[in-house]
Amino acid sequence: MATWVLHYLLVAFLIAISYNIDAASAGITRHYKFDIQLKNITRLCKTKTIVTVNGKFPGPKVIAREGDNLQIQVVNHVSNNISIHWHGIRQLRSGWADGPSYVTQCPIRTGQSYVYNFTVTGQRGTLWWHAHIQWMRATVYGPLIILPKLYQPYPFPKPYKQVPILFGEWFSADPQAVLQQALQTGGGPNASDAHTFNGLPGPLYNCSTKDTYKLTVEPGKTYLLRLINAALDDELFFTIANHTLTVVEADASYVKPFQTNIVLLGPGQTTNVLLKTKPIYPNATFYMMARPYFTGQGTIDNTTVAGILQYHNKPTSNHFNSSKNLPVIKPSLPPINSTSYAANFTKMFRSLASSRFPANVPKTVDKKYLFTVGLGTNPCPKNQTCQGPTNTTKFAAAINNVSFILPNKTSLLQSYFFGKSNKVFMTDFPSAPIFPFNYTGMPPNNTMVSRGTKLVVLKYNTTVELVLQGTSILGIEAHPIHLHGFNFYVVGQGFGNFDPTRDPKQYNLVDPVERNTINVPSGGWVAIRFLADNPGVWLMHCHIEIHLSWGLTMAWVVLDGDLPNQKLLPPPSDLPKC
Ligand code: C2O
Repeated sequence: MATWVLHYLLVAFLIAISYNIDAASAGITRHYKFDIQLKNITRLCKTKTIVTVNGKFPGPKVIAREGDNLQIQVVNHVSNNISIHWHGIRQLRSGWADGPSYVTQCPIRTGQSYVYNFTVTGQRGTLWWHAHIQWMRATVYGPLIILPKLYQPYPFPKPYKQVPILFGEWFSADPQAVLQQALQTGGGPNASDAHTFNGLPGPLYNCSTKDTYKLTVEPGKTYLLRLINAALDDELFFTIANHTLTVVEADASYVKPFQTNIVLLGPGQTTNVLLKTKPIYPNATFYMMARPYFTGQGTIDNTTVAGILQYHNKPTSNHFNSSKNLPVIKPSLPPINSTSYAANFTKMFRSLASSRFPANVPKTVDKKYLFTVGLGTNPCPKNQTCQGPTNTTKFAAAINNVSFILPNKTSLLQSYFFGKSNKVFMTDFPSAPIFPFNYTGMPPNNTMVSRGTKLVVLKYNTTVELVLQGTSILGIEAHPIHLHGFNFYVVGQGFGNFDPTRDPKQYNLVDPVERNTINVPSGGWVAIRFLADNPGVWLMHCHIEIHLSWGLTMAWVVLDGDLPNQKLLPPPSDLPKC
């Protein structure tokens, strides 16, 4: 072969390689269109109209690779206002695409459309998207899956197949009406009627055998189950009869793999597990089940969703195989109030903390905060009888006794960016309880909360340590606290009251789990650390929807840094008008 040919081939080869490396790191742009539309759907013998994305329930899967740019056009064809949140996406400098209504945008009104434009940076794994206004997320949710960059392997055996399983909560009534009634009467909301796997309640509910989620597997293979708790109000235990699960990822961060039979997910949390199927065809089918974990005083939906894990059988010569006649093996789950199971399970999570996926936990702390999270009360309006803890009170919920009020004429981010925060929000959110008390002991007599729109302002690149302290006011209960715009490291947790001298000595600063949603233990506390490297306004809230509706939320303002790439981008031109 002539030398010039070799040269030509070599050059072509090098171009091809560099192109691939570029493609692998720069990513591509992926377009999606979400038409918000009504759909009739029958569950539990009852047909009703629900709000969906593209007529699908659960909604469509959004897939990207790490490094990709996503442009998702949301067009609202229904009478309700809507906005969509990309739960767990860091939204570096792109806070305008985060989605919570009245926080980073005003809602998309009927007939309007908005393009959520963001780049997935430094993340890979299972996340999800959901409506972020009132209780619209009851039916408007779906998976958001971030694959590793091209040619980058998982830090675990490559799965044969990947299966998203969304846990949901089904209301026979209109969820918006359930919310309105609860807020009006001041009482707890009516419980949902079923839990679901991928929208299906399964055989333990009326008329629902035909609406059963079935996962068909081959023997001797490894499946990656992408578990997402999209339920409104319920933490859920999940298990598959006679199978062990290996947890490999939580909230789109890899963890040190560990085995378990039962996983627990609070609303908002995601967990990837490997399911290794039986080496040979087992002649049985297996129930997978989910059921709540709950320690509070209210009434919740304590029903059980079941799905079926069945093995695909090779057709044999003399008869049709069907799983119909096979015995069904049923699993067992911990008692509904099993805080000990919850605590032991939560302790198993550790960051992978490898050289490729290091745990960059802040070792020093610029700002420390102690926030109480829990329930409380508001007074019942005069001339009304309420159904709160007493008939003169309504249920409320608060952080540091401030029950958050969302603005309703503008968004926090707009008023901050355009310098019009005056009267929209204050920046005096308390950094610790103003009146300290024995948080997890005998509750105080006065359970009234204050109300306001108060934020905490952080300078760019502040390292923050935040202790979230549960309270016993109106009962102890776990609170899955979700932070927008950041992942945080869970450096410590315990029961009772946080002790600022004793407890920090036990912190894990080596391989703490990195998440976006963490359960404040029922009757306990959790300590998290994060680096405020993302300018914008970021909501932090309990992902139990009724607690959020009652005000268990606040927001952080992270100021711009000095460098050009440390500043919030300007708002897109199609940002919904307020
Ligand atoms: Cu998944 Cu502010 O929520």
